[in-house]
Amino acid sequence: MMEIKNRPVKPKGKLGVLTPGMGAVATTFIAGVESVRRGLARPIGSLTQMGTIRLGKRTDNRTPMIKDFIPLAELDDMVFGGWDIFEDNTYEAAIKAGVLEKELLDGVKDFLEGIKPMKAVFDQKYVKKLHGEWVKKGDNWYDLAGQLMDDMKDFKKKNGCDRLVVVWCASTEIFMKPTAAHATIESFEKAMKDNSPEIAPSMVYAYAALKMGIPFANGAPNLTTDVPALMALAKANNTPICGKDFKTGQTLMKTILAPGLKARMIGLNGWFSTNILGNRDGEVLDDPESFKTKEESKLSVLEHILQPKLYPELYDKFYHKVRINYYPPRGDNKEGWDNIDIFGWLGYPMQIKIDFLCRDSILAAPIVLDLALFMDLAQRIGFRGIQEWLSFYFKSPQHAPELYPEHDLFIQLMKLKNTLRYIQGEDMITHLGQEYYD
Ligand SMILES: NC(=O)c1ccc[n+]([C@@H]2O[C@H](COP(=O)([O-])OP(=O)(O)OC[C@H]3O[C@@H](n4cnc5c(N)ncnc54)[C@H](O)[C@@H]3O)[C@@H](O)[C@H]2O)c1
Repeated sequence: MMEIKNRPVKPKGKLGVLTPGMGAVATTFIAGVESVRRGLARPIGSLTQMGTIRLGKRTDNRTPMIKDFIPLAELDDMVFGGWDIFEDNTYEAAIKAGVLEKELLDGVKDFLEGIKPMKAVFDQKYVKKLHGEWVKKGDNWYDLAGQLMDDMKDFKKKNGCDRLVVVWCASTEIFMKPTAAHATIESFEKAMKDNSPEIAPSMVYAYAALKMGIPFANGAPNLTTDVPALMALAKANNTPICGKDFKTGQTLMKTILAPGLKARMIGLNGWFSTNILGNRDGEVLDDPESFKTKEESKLSVLEHILQPKLYPELYDKFYHKVRINYYPPRGDNKEGWDNIDIFGWLGYPMQIKIDFLCRDSILAAPIVLDLALFMDLAQRIGFRGIQEWLSFYFKSPQHAPELYPEHDLFIQLMKLKNTLRYIQGEDMITHLGQEYYD
C-alpha cells in the first residue's frame, strides 16, 4: 500500500493549473471555475465541490463534504494558463468552442481575456486535421521540452504560484504503440535529442512536467505517459501521473449500465454505439489515425467490465462497435445512440435504446477541476507514479502493467473514497455491515 508520507494539511499559496490545449474543455473548465467563484453558477458534476463521504458506521451520522474532510486547494487559490496552437485568448476560444452561452461568458469576460495561451509544441504529423501558427521552434524535442520547462517556471513566478499541475486538454494524437525508444528514461531522452517520430508532442509536455516534479494528468487517449520511461520518471521524481481520456458521454453511460447488467447476470449479444458531433474534437477524430486512438480507448471498457472469460455463457461473443461521425451542425452538443441487445431468463432477448443528448465539455470540465485538486493533493502527500484511485475519471485508466484496469464506475468510486479515508487515517468501508445485526 502506498505510504502516506505526510498527512495533508491545508495548502497555502496558489495552485497553477496548466492545460496543454485551450479549446472546448479547457475554456469550459476555466470559465466555469471563475463563474463559480463569482457566485454566478454552481459546480455541478464535481465530486470535490459537491460530494460527501461517509465515515465510520452508518449509525455514526458522519458524512462531511469531501472538501471539508480532506484539505484541498480552494477554488479562490487557483490560477490558470496553458498552451495552444491558436493565439486566441480564452474568451475568444470559448466563444469559438460554442459550449457556454455568450451571456455567461460575458459575465467573466475580463478574466478570460487575461488568459492567453503560450506557444505550443506541435507537429501536424500527430494531429492531421489541425494547422496552427502559434507554435514553438526548436532544434529537437529535447530542446522544446526545455522551452516548456521555462514556460512553467515563468508562469509560476509571474503568478506567484506555490504549486503547479498539468492536465492535458489538447487534441487526440494519432495511434502509437510503445517501442524501445520508450523503454527507459535514457532511451527516451536519446529519442528526444534525435527528434525521433516515436516521440509525440504530448510526451514532450509530460516529460517537461515530470522532470520538474509537476503532476501530469492525461485527458485524451494518447499514449503519452503510458510508457515505461515516463512511468519511471514519475517515480524517480516523486510525481503523480494519471490518465487516459476523460470519462464522459457515451462511455460514462456504458460504465454505469454494464456493471448493472453484469450484477444481475443479464447476457449481452451486442452493443452498437454511434455519435454525431460537430466541434473541433469531432473534426480531429474524423481522421482515421486519431479515431483509432479514441476507438481503442472506448472499446476496452465492456470487455473489462463484463469479464467474458469468467462468464462465457453471458458475454463470450458480444459484438461491440463504436462510431464517431463528424457532423458540423451539431457543434459541441453531440448526440449519442446506443442499441443494446441483451438476453435474460432462458435466453429470451430484450433491447435497450439510449439517445443521449449530451454536452461533452459540460461533463468534462468538472473532471478537469477534480483532477487538478486531487493530483495536487497526491503530490503533497508523497503519492507518486500511476494514481489508480483516480480511474473514476477515465475511459482508459492507466494501470500497472501486471494488472487489468478497473472500469466499473461504482468500484472506481469506492476505490477513490476509500483512498481518501486511508489518507486521513479513517477506517475503510467494506460494506460488510454484519456488526449492525450482532
Ligand atoms: N469533451 C469531452 O468530453 C472529452 C472527453 C474525453 C476526452 N476528451 C479529449 O480532450 C481533448 C480536448 O477536447 P476538446 O473538446 O476541448 O477539443 P478542442 O479541439 O476544442 O480543444 C483542443 C485544443 O488543443 C489544441 N492543441 C492541439 N494540439 C496541441 C498541442 N500539441 N499543444 C497545445 N495545444 C494543442 C487545439 O488547437 C485545440 O484548441 C481531446 O483530446 C478530446 O478527445 C474530451
